[in-house]
Amino acid sequence: MSNLKNTVGSLTRLAGRSLKDPDVAIEQEHVSCKLVDVDGQVGAEVSYQGKKEQFTATQLTAMFLTRAKQTASAELKLPVNDMVIAVPAWYTDAQRRAIIDAAEISGLKILRLINETTATALGWGITKTDLPGPEEKPKRVAFVDIGHSNYTCSIVEFRKGELKVISTAYDRHFGGRNFDKAIVDHFAAEFKEKFKVDINENPKAKLRVVAACEKLKKVLSANAGAPINIESLMNDVDVRGFLKREELEEIMKPLLERCTAPLEQALAEAKLKTEDIDTIELVGGCTRVPALKSAIQDFFGKQLSFTLNADEAIARGSAFACAILSPVFRVRDFSIHDICNYPIEFTWEKSAEIPDEDTSLTVFNRGNVMPSTKILTFYRKQAFDLEAKYAKPETLPGKMNPWIGRFSVKGVKADEKDDFMICKLKARLNLNGILNVESGYYVEDMEVEEPIEGEDVSFEQQEPSQSELDYERESKRPKIMASADIETQAMDTDKEPKTRKVKKQVKKGDLPLSSGTASLDVQAIANLSEKEHSMIMEDKLVADTEDKKNELEAYIYEMRAKIDEEYADFSSEEEKTKLKEKLETSEVSYNSLILVNAPNTDSISHRTGSTTRARTPPRPSTNPRSTRSAPSAAPSPNATSTSSKRSAKPPSRPKKKPPRRSAPSKKPSSRPSKSRPPPPPQQPRWPPSVRSRRRRTPRCKMHRVLVLD
Ligand SMILES: Nc1ncnc2c1ncn2[C@@H]1O[C@H](COP(=O)(O)OP(=O)(O)OP(=O)(O)O)[C@@H](O)[C@H]1O
Ligand SMILES: [Mg+2]
Repeated sequence: MSNLKNTVGSLTRLAGRSLKDPDVAIEQEHVSCKLVDVDGQVGAEVSYQGKKEQFTATQLTAMFLTRAKQTASAELKLPVNDMVIAVPAWYTDAQRRAIIDAAEISGLKILRLINETTATALGWGITKTDLPGPEEKPKRVAFVDIGHSNYTCSIVEFRKGELKVISTAYDRHFGGRNFDKAIVDHFAAEFKEKFKVDINENPKAKLRVVAACEKLKKVLSANAGAPINIESLMNDVDVRGFLKREELEEIMKPLLERCTAPLEQALAEAKLKTEDIDTIELVGGCTRVPALKSAIQDFFGKQLSFTLNADEAIARGSAFACAILSPVFRVRDFSIHDICNYPIEFTWEKSAEIPDEDTSLTVFNRGNVMPSTKILTFYRKQAFDLEAKYAKPETLPGKMNPWIGRFSVKGVKADEKDDFMICKLKARLNLNGILNVESGYYVEDMEVEEPIEGEDVSFEQQEPSQSELDYERESKRPKIMASADIETQAMDTDKEPKTRKVKKQVKKGDLPLSSGTASLDVQAIANLSEKEHSMIMEDKLVADTEDKKNELEAYIYEMRAKIDEEYADFSSEEEKTKLKEKLETSEVSYNSLILVNAPNTDSISHRTGSTTRARTPPRPSTNPRSTRSAPSAAPSPNATSTSSKRSAKPPSRPKKKPPRRSAPSKKPSSRPSKSRPPPPPQQPRWPPSVRSRRRRTPRCKMHRVLVLD
């Protein structure tokens, strides 16, 4: 709480956006640091190594992923390089690319991005052995996830070995934090009236009230009423209040009225009725709110199911997705058919020779299966460009730029007879929900003798990765997409004759492509990776320095005690005084170090706002990038950030204070016998490398920007 201006949150909601996006303005209300524009992308301005510095949301996400990687590696005691990341279903191409860029910056390979409710569905279905067979009526499940800021409902059909997302609907601004805000507003008014304090004038006081209100909300999920008490909230005033569950429900009424909208939309898009849904599975922290549960239950008219861990369902599903894509694990075959949530169109300039040519076409409609490949055919005599963009910008989150990418097709020329070259472009909406024109080639119409049985590979091979085969099977069905210009990859089949002459388009060569998308270029990724790496080293330096300071302090206290007790009989008064002086000198220099780089750490929860202060923290909390996922640093599951803070004064220490950490193992193992000479007093030992590194310890309040979400 003491480092609000350096604590960044809401990364999922900031990545891939620009500062002028109205959604970012909403996020600023929930993020205590200043959001700024960094080269067209939203970023945060924080104090790093004593200087103001700006980091883009992509960089901040990379920092978070680095931390996640370190935590996973420490837990598994193995290096972690591959990852599946779950993202909101409403993510656009640019947001997905930003997450992939962040992963690359942090040195991770993304196996896939998976939509959050799809990950939940995978975790639910992959272990089921009683799913209907391929010809039977599928089992239909509605997955409802209400978290801190998002509300998503996906309707998914399950058959043996597969799940198919039929529809996904969401409210991007509905979650626990909206409930918290309603409660905070209620108490802000009450405190102003009763205690004459206005928390809106004091950010720290407001944050404390937000934390207390979130706690209160949780208590009210299981109790009929709960108190709120905050000591010395502001101006030395203590505040208190009480809220009954009925009052809470009254406060939440406008929100509760919105809670069926995503359910209605998901059903409408799936063309289903509530009675068609077999199971309604709830996940997400906010589904514990009784009023929400009963509103959802009333809507569906049947019992809700809570068989998944509300907090971990997405992570568990993502772990299964990881295992499916990993060569190391053997997982039951399970295909995942997701859908595209925004229609994508291609536009191009009209060819001078074809005056009646269309200049745009929607290639992937909303609800199109994902991943999926479409072949676009162009008749051209020279190089040309095409652009991909979202066809309905008004459906995108906030004010996202609908532009996806520009693709230039080279190597196009008229043939010997000055006829058009038939150019085929492979547009692919991949596993991650990202669109690319992956390759281009040209074909010629030819009459060929074709064997009827067996595979025809002359047209083109799909590029199936194991997990995508089902989609490819789907897209191989003969299908003309639009005005004969776009076709899925299709083969004719006719079982009667053994061979036949057919007119076919035969691939003659490749067309080079270049593209510009929202992804960072290779050089930018390399530069940011280097910066990330140097910050990791800075973190390590701070943590190592802290360890050494702890060791030194432990040694000083231990040695002082031993001089007067264990070694008392073996040394003269003069020796003792000399040794004590040396210890004193070491302690003084140690304390002056504390002045420079005090290990005073606050751990803040962005959700609970609860502050735990460790004056002399163990190593994990000295790393200012501790996050809620840190196994030993996070005091609550919601704790998301920590920060180092310089003390105003050197801490005064009692002479015989017990060591902060267990004493080093170098100490004498048993009491020395009287006949043996006493062991020579040890000087505090700083390995030279540590000494020199210590001098370079950054004189900063905070070493790394702390990230959450
Ligand atoms: N017992 C409870 N009663 C009421 N609300 C709760 C309870 N436990 C957790 N919550 C709320 O659930 C929310 C956190 O849920 P969750 O962890 O699913 O969110 P998230 O996935 O981090 O956020 P997002 O919505 O952005 O996906 C918080 O607002 C928290 O206050
Ligand atoms: Mg969530």
